[in-house]
Amino acid sequence: MRLQEHSGVILVGPMASGKTTLGKLLAKRLGLTFVDSDQEIEQRSGVSIRTIFEVEGEVAFRDRESKVLATLISQSGCVLATGGGVVLLEQNRARLKEAGLVLYLKPDIETQLKRTSGDRKRPLLQNVDRRQFLTELNLARDPLYRDVADVVISVDNRPGKKMVESILNRLVKNAWVAEI
Ligand code: S3P
Repeated sequence: MRLQEHSGVILVGPMASGKTTLGKLLAKRLGLTFVDSDQEIEQRSGVSIRTIFEVEGEVAFRDRESKVLATLISQSGCVLATGGGVVLLEQNRARLKEAGLVLYLKPDIETQLKRTSGDRKRPLLQNVDRRQFLTELNLARDPLYRDVADVVISVDNRPGKKMVESILNRLVKNAWVAEI
């Protein structure tokens, strides 16, 4: 699968892997539009993800997420940042596999912990031992991300611009995207 054929990039990976930050930078460099699944869910519902979890529960959130994915994935010319749990539903994985170039951003646990240290927004990270929770979640979801991904990219605490340059170099080298 080549970007030239599919015209979109989709970012999957766990919380705090940089899907939004790197996605925006990547979109700029590739001349594509950036879209964010969580943001779209919040815009459509008019409330925060945390409120949706509190009021409706996770199952209802996953349903909203799946509907938003179906819409956003059909838009061409975009870099799409998905939510960390998008790979949980089989129907989403099937959609992702059929879609554009899928990059799995795989962060190290220290980077995730640093980035989420003051987090009050992500419902799953409240009132838990974050190191243990994220470690277990990464282990459980890693095969699911790999299942849908074309490329696995290790993410560390380097500045976003550096990370994006290294991602682009890799994509160009493997002919996923044309020379930029
Ligand atoms: C979730 C990740 C979040 C958000 C929700 C659930 C998850 O997105 O969709 O809090 O299950 O991993 P980010 O990966 O953008 O933090």
